[in-house]
Amino acid sequence: MDKRFPFTDFPSGWYVVGLSSELPRGAVRTIRYFGRELVMYRTESGRFRVTEPYCPHLGAHLGRGKVDGENLACGFHGWKFDGRGVCVRAYGKNVPKTKIDTWHALERHQTLMVWYDALGREPSWEPPDLDTEGWTPFKFESFEFASHPQETSENSVDLGHFTEVHAFSKAWVLKDAVTEGPVLKASYGVTKQVIPSLPQIGVDAHFHVQVHGLGYSYVQGEVPSLKVRYRHLVLSTPVSEGRVHMRLATSIERFRSRALTEVMHRFTFRGLVSEVESDLPFWETKRYVERPVLARGDGPIHKYRKWAKQFYPPKAA
Ligand code: FES
Ligand SMILES: [Fe+2]
Repeated sequence: MDKRFPFTDFPSGWYVVGLSSELPRGAVRTIRYFGRELVMYRTESGRFRVTEPYCPHLGAHLGRGKVDGENLACGFHGWKFDGRGVCVRAYGKNVPKTKIDTWHALERHQTLMVWYDALGREPSWEPPDLDTEGWTPFKFESFEFASHPQETSENSVDLGHFTEVHAFSKAWVLKDAVTEGPVLKASYGVTKQVIPSLPQIGVDAHFHVQVHGLGYSYVQGEVPSLKVRYRHLVLSTPVSEGRVHMRLATSIERFRSRALTEVMHRFTFRGLVSEVESDLPFWETKRYVERPVLARGDGPIHKYRKWAKQFYPPKAA
């Protein structure tokens, strides 16, 4: 691991490894996350799947394979593997008993996700499945930088940085952070200065954060004065030790007018991107302090860290 982050492994959880739009039917792509390569593909019927990269026959890279109906065909000798990775066809009638290891894959809200667990344990939870009726599709942005999902997600309880980094003239807790298994929830109110030189003009926003594991944060918020209700996704995926690929997404509840919806969506999306751009230089250069000196005014950092421990493999006795 990067010396700045003393974590034993990548934390367990669901992580976004691509966007739905990046993987049309029949496509096969090699991706690099969790310090390794993986191969993802989409079947002719539209199913998204992820496998280990090497063919068990003679080791060809399956990123050079192709989709054949609902199967993945290796490009080297044409052996075919089904959705569970089982070899279903070799040269003729004789089908060797072999398989490729597949990853649990999930497609939700225009994102492609996999379940990572250092010990190979099965998924024990899923990220939320939102009702998107009346909401715009998500708009996405992405950044890659030196950090760790535990660090980026800590932002959601770090009350002290809201006024300093994000130029909120006020920030307050609406609901204290609570943890429910793999989910941490908290609600905040903030006043954002619209014009930097006029601190008396501010817009209030209320938002509710749900952190589902360390790679998937969902925020629902509203700006009452503008009648905007929005959703943000903040999605951090480890690329390798000490590097993350963060995707951001925003959706808003539709207004009757399409033009107004588009303007407000763009405004909200730009807002999220610029808030994250303010965090980024800190994430990129900070190190994890295991025993931080905290003061009144800090958020529940210890609570977050205690909760986050569940995502790391138990230490060998
Ligand atoms: S190496 Fe994959 S079919 Fe031979
Ligand atoms: Fe932040």
